Amino acid sequence: MSMKQYADPYGLAFTASAPDSVETISRFTTSYMGFRRETGAILKDLTESDPDMPMARCAKGYLAKLMGSSNHSARAVSISKDLDAHLEKVGANDREKLHAAALAAWCRGDLDKTTSIWEEILLDHPMDGLVLRLAHFTHFYSGDGRKMRDSMARHLPLWPKDHPNYGFLLGMYAFGLEESGQFEKAEHYGRAAVERNPKDAWSVHSIAHVMEMTERQEEGIAWIAGLESDWSTVNNFRFHLYWHKCLFHLERGEFDQVLKLYDEQISSDVESDFYLDICNCSSLLWRLEMFGVNVGDRWRALTDVARKHLHDRDLIFVSLHYLMALVANGDRKAADQMIESMREWAQLDETQARICATVGLAVAKGLQLSRDGKYAEAVAAIKPVRYDLDLVGGSKAQRDVFIMIMLDAAKASNDALVARALFSERLGEKVHSSWTWKNYSTILESSGKSEEAAFAAGKAQEIRVS
Ligand SMILES: [Fe+2]
Repeated sequence: MSMKQYADPYGLAFTASAPDSVETISRFTTSYMGFRRETGAILKDLTESDPDMPMARCAKGYLAKLMGSSNHSARAVSISKDLDAHLEKVGANDREKLHAAALAAWCRGDLDKTTSIWEEILLDHPMDGLVLRLAHFTHFYSGDGRKMRDSMARHLPLWPKDHPNYGFLLGMYAFGLEESGQFEKAEHYGRAAVERNPKDAWSVHSIAHVMEMTERQEEGIAWIAGLESDWSTVNNFRFHLYWHKCLFHLERGEFDQVLKLYDEQISSDVESDFYLDICNCSSLLWRLEMFGVNVGDRWRALTDVARKHLHDRDLIFVSLHYLMALVANGDRKAADQMIESMREWAQLDETQARICATVGLAVAKGLQLSRDGKYAEAVAAIKPVRYDLDLVGGSKAQRDVFIMIMLDAAKASNDALVARALFSERLGEKVHSSWTWKNYSTILESSGKSEEAAFAAGKAQEIRVS
C-alpha cells in the first residue's frame, strides 16, 4: 500500500494510506484525552483500515504500555520490535520516528528517555496532543508535579483557544499546578476547563484534588456529585472520581456511603484487571480499616487480581497496591514472592527499578511488617523514606495512604513519643482531618495528657457528621 504525508487541520503531518486515517487518529487522540470508552475501538478501526500507518502502530504500543502491567507490556514489546524498519520502509516522517524511539525506550524500562523524547517532539510539534497527554502520564508517575505543570505551561500558549482539545490542556495544567501546591491557580484553570466541557473527567478530577488538599470535604462531595451525570460517562477512570468522593466521606465519618460506593462502583469492574481499579480499591480498603471499619472479605477479590501481577515491572506505585491486597488478605506466599521479585527488579538499570530500590522496597517491607503486627519495625522501614515518597509517583492524595500506614503503625507501636510527633506533624498540614485528630487524642490520652486529648477529640468530632 503506498503511503503519503497528510496533515491535520493544525499542520501535524502523518504518514498514512488515506486522509481519512488522519481524521481517525485525531478522533482517537481526543477520545484518549477525554477518557472516552470508545478510545480502544477507534484505534482498532484505524489499525484495521490502515494497518501500516506509523502512528496507528505507535499508538497501539502506547495504549498497551498505558495499561501499566506486564501482560500488556509484552504486546507493546512485540509492536515495537520491528517498528523502526517498518517506518523506514513506509517513509515515516521524523516525528513518527521519534515516537517509535519513545515507545522502544518505554519497552526497555527507560521512562526518563521516553519522556525526554516526547518533550523533544513537543518543542517542534507542540500541537501533538497525543504526546502532550502521554508526557503528562509519565510526569505523573515521576511524582514531581512541577514536571506536569511546566510541560503544559510550555505549550499551552501555542494552542488556539478554539481547538477542540484546548480544554483538556487547561485541565492538565490545573492538575500540574495542584500537584505543585499552587491550589488557587489550579482551581482557576480547572474550573475553566470544566466550564468548557463538564464531561472532561480529568479536569473535574483536578478540582477534586484541590478540594482534597485544601480539606474542603463538603464542597468536594458536592462538586463530584454535582457533575456525576457528565463524568460518569467516561471509562474506568470514573471509579477514581468515586474514590475521591469516598476520601471526603471518610473524614466525615460517613462510612456506609463509602462502603456503598466501594461495592457499587469502585470495585465493580476489578475483574477487568485495570491497574487503577486495584489502586483505588486497595487504598480505600486499607483506609477504611484505619478508620476502624470492618471491610469483611472484600480484600479477597483484589488478591485474585493481584496474584497475576507478582512479577510486574512497570510502575512501582501500582505494584505496591497489588502488594497491599496480598498482605492485607494474609496471602503470605504470594506477598513474599512479590517482594522477592521487587528485589530483583531493584537491581535493574531502569527508571522504575531505581525507585523500587530507593523507596519502593522500604514501603513494601513496611506494609508487610504492619500487617504482621510488627509496628515499630514498620515505622522504622517507612520513616527514613517518607520525604522521598513522591518518587513512587501517583498523586499526593494517593501517596498519603503510605504516610497514614506509617502513622497508624506508630500509634500501634506504643511508642507514644514518636507517634505524638508524627501525628503532630500531620496536623501541621491537615487541620480538618478527623482521623488525625482522633488518633492524636488517643495518643495524648495514653500519655496522661487528658485535657489536650479532650480538645483533640472535640476537633475530630466537629469534622465528623455521623
Ligand atoms: Fe486523583
